[in-house]
Amino acid sequence: MTRRDFYRYGSIVLGSLIKLVIAVPAVAFLASPLRKRGQDAGEVAFAALTSLNQLKVGVPRSFAIIQDQTDAWIKYPSEPVGSVWLIRQPAGTKPEVIAFTVECPHLGCAINLTADGKSFLCPCHASAFDFDGKPQNQVPPRPMDRLDVELTAEPDPQVRVKFQRFRTLAQERIPLA
Ligand code: FES
Repeated sequence: MTRRDFYRYGSIVLGSLIKLVIAVPAVAFLASPLRKRGQDAGEVAFAALTSLNQLKVGVPRSFAIIQDQTDAWIKYPSEPVGSVWLIRQPAGTKPEVIAFTVECPHLGCAINLTADGKSFLCPCHASAFDFDGKPQNQVPPRPMDRLDVELTAEPDPQVRVKFQRFRTLAQERIPLA
């Protein structure tokens, strides 16, 4: 091998090594949101919404769900991501608080209280539900979607809800990732 060939091949090998050293961390950085999304799938955290004492028995109250959102490489702190209805049950009932997502199982509009405050009604296509979430007409494909609730310890129990979304128009409750 001549000296010229040695330098030529040497510079090719050295150039390739430098590209590799730069490319590996760059690809790892670009792919990290995809990897993170895969790891986070299915993980839903409980969020504290209010104290039990703030709820009156049998009177639904809605609460916004505020969470940090991550869109690929951008983090949006404290974004509203949805709302829930909380209904306190009579003392001694298990669970003591029922939570529903406000998203209608029909097509996802926000479910409201009726004018008299005695049941739920979706304004989009008139899905109607009682306070147990049971459909009161044929519009919704299933009952309102219940969410997991937990209460922290006395003396001032906090109501914590695991917020999730579910597929609309399905007869089964199918969580969305
Ligand atoms: S989205 Fe609620 S009734 Fe259609």
